[in-house]
Amino acid sequence: MIGTPLFDLDTPALLIDLDSLDLNLLLMQEKANLAGVKMRPHTKTHRTPAIGKLQIAAGAKGITVAKLGEAEVMAAEGLDDIFIANEIVGSIKMERLRKLARSVRSLAVGVDHRDQVEALSSAMSGEPHLLDVMIDVDTGGARTGVAPGEATLDLARSVSAAPGLRLRGIFTHDGNSYGAGTLEGVREISRNSQLQLLETARLMRSADISVQEVSIGSTPSLLMGEIEQGVTEIRPGSYSFMDANMAQVVGTYARCAQTVLATVISRPTHERVVLDTGTKNLNEGVHEKGTVTSSAGHGRLKEHPVIFLEKIYEEHSSFDIPKGSGLEFPIGMKLEIIANHACQTTNFFDVIHGIRNGRVETVWPVLCRGKSQ
Ligand SMILES: Cc1ncc(COP(=O)(O)O)c(C=O)c1O
Repeated sequence: MIGTPLFDLDTPALLIDLDSLDLNLLLMQEKANLAGVKMRPHTKTHRTPAIGKLQIAAGAKGITVAKLGEAEVMAAEGLDDIFIANEIVGSIKMERLRKLARSVRSLAVGVDHRDQVEALSSAMSGEPHLLDVMIDVDTGGARTGVAPGEATLDLARSVSAAPGLRLRGIFTHDGNSYGAGTLEGVREISRNSQLQLLETARLMRSADISVQEVSIGSTPSLLMGEIEQGVTEIRPGSYSFMDANMAQVVGTYARCAQTVLATVISRPTHERVVLDTGTKNLNEGVHEKGTVTSSAGHGRLKEHPVIFLEKIYEEHSSFDIPKGSGLEFPIGMKLEIIANHACQTTNFFDVIHGIRNGRVETVWPVLCRGKSQ
């Protein structure tokens, strides 16, 4: 397998261009270094411990995950500084969390409600080490998160008073940056989100509550915006692979590291080209039209990114050859597709083929694949 030319691989197959991956890791790490903040990349994009280790080698302090199952796999592979940036609920998970906390050097989890604090506290109160807690603050993303200001302060007081827990800080995910209409809009959402978080940190400190970490992150914001003074940590995810949606933000497909290799399996008409990859391998990932992250169609041809998949089914996708282009796509031809959304696409595959100079250099198992519990 190692050394195989990429177009000799069977399809559909997940590929990562290693030079682009290296560059993406380096650029974001440099941004963190210049701002003097810690890098804690969100590994939901790759779900692959080997890539988490590359991020650590590039300078990241630790990793972020979305799920306890991802954290368990990452820990078993030796990644020992993990933030589960999500709410963990239920007695089965509490037991797993307690075990995990014993096995890693550093672990933190998110909370946005007193009920979670109580459950975490009763799970952790007899343990040898305190569990770090980060308060999830909603600065506009309108998903999870407690309101900034007094509501966060109230919750912080209950964390500080809870046996078995230690308040590490506060975090936000400004996922609304994906829905901005302009790049200036992305910057404004990012600034606004950070200022709300910083003001909340100030309020907490003025109430004698220690806030060690002020953690932010979404890739559009971190690609386009500035990191405000006072932020201590960033958690970008999609930046590592990039995708067709993110290419709209940066204005180039050149940084898209992830592709799905597909084969032309049918040419039912003169124009129509049908591939062997559909929604079981490629995320639809369509964002609302008019947003900075909306790429037309369901993925783009790496060699000709103006061409996008117009239709997608479970096992097929298709595009029409642009009139007058002179391009040929015979049956059996293999094409690299840049997915609209990289993170979900990764979760469709057992392995990632790392490609350099057109050949397979490495094969990484996607060990966190399906670890959504
Ligand atoms: C809590 C949290 N932090 C960070 C991220 C990273 O976002 P992105 O992939 O835009 O960098 C996400 C993405 O869903 C998230 O949910």
